[in-house]
Amino acid sequence: MSEFKIGWNAKMDMLKFKNLGEEREKIIAEGSSKDLETIYKSNTLANLLHPKGIKVKVSKIVKETDNTKSFYLEPMSLNAMPPFMAGEYITVLVKIDNRIYKRPYSISSSPDNLSYYRITIKQEGVVSTYMLKEIAEGDILNILGPFGHFTYSKIRDQKDVLLIAGGSGITPFMSYLQSSYFLKNINSVTLLYGAKNEFELIFKKEIDAIASQNPKVKVAYILSEEKRSDYEYGFIDEEKLRRIGLENKSIFLSGPVPMYFYISETLKKLDIPNKYIRHEIFTETPENLENKQFTLTVKMLDKTITIPCQENETLITSMEKARAKTLVHCTVGICGFCRSKLLSGEVKTDNSHIRMADKEENYIHPCVTYPLSDVVIEVPIK
Ligand code: FES
Repeated sequence: MSEFKIGWNAKMDMLKFKNLGEEREKIIAEGSSKDLETIYKSNTLANLLHPKGIKVKVSKIVKETDNTKSFYLEPMSLNAMPPFMAGEYITVLVKIDNRIYKRPYSISSSPDNLSYYRITIKQEGVVSTYMLKEIAEGDILNILGPFGHFTYSKIRDQKDVLLIAGGSGITPFMSYLQSSYFLKNINSVTLLYGAKNEFELIFKKEIDAIASQNPKVKVAYILSEEKRSDYEYGFIDEEKLRRIGLENKSIFLSGPVPMYFYISETLKKLDIPNKYIRHEIFTETPENLENKQFTLTVKMLDKTITIPCQENETLITSMEKARAKTLVHCTVGICGFCRSKLLSGEVKTDNSHIRMADKEENYIHPCVTYPLSDVVIEVPIK
């Protein structure tokens, strides 16, 4: 048997280990006998800056286009709205026919002015129609947030930036263009803003005023259904993107799903690495869906409910209408909060943000899923 020698360091370690118990007892005996704090100062501060729910007053409503309005929200019990970064959104809770609906809206005001948030809403589904038709100045709303990651970071992003907006996708960029953090940290920003016609360009006056005062800001408007000499015509396509120049630029993309897919594909074709691309999607009901009626069966824990649903409404909207428990957050298919398993039935869904493994297991995001037959889903409780 070979002789086994223990070195000096190992001896010291063994000694330390031997004394560990005694030392621990000594430390415990000397420790404070006060109860542990249940509320830490940092948590109190975090709650003040980011309260769970905020009551706000609609102080002003501005009609931006025929089907879009801006709502100015002022704090009721706080001195100021919680700080946020340009590109973040809030979730608005509205009660319609005694049912609570939650919808996210990007903040379109400046993060430098926290006396109010401005959200800008295009009439689209149940909630936005209610907001545009029923909400008046002086009304009180409950909101959550701000949340989101569609923000500029001077550490991660490039100093030259391209913002691509379609329709109401302009809202987060309005906040970018009024953010001193953003404007201070970039060398240049080009906004490509596409809409059907001139009347659908939201914030045009505001954008032009910002561009005329800041040489870093360049703007190009593109109309897809109106030919005019003072605007570009068509869609934001490969030729226009090449002309702008994409090299070493961070590209932020905000608009409806078809635009997102089209431009993402074009950027792929142009070999733009994903690390330079960030996006925010604004969902719209697919055009070819009718109002055929089906049933939706939802299994959650040991409960099963069956409710009506219709082809041109998301499963989440049907659940909200039926006052069923819903797990929703972003409502645009990105966060995965509503992730559910499709047990049977045919659906039209956007699965671009579903993990590969989830796709194989038939998981869907009901907030962007429309029924094409009777459907059964199972909602896993987190
Ligand atoms: S609520 Fe975010 S994916 Fe459905």
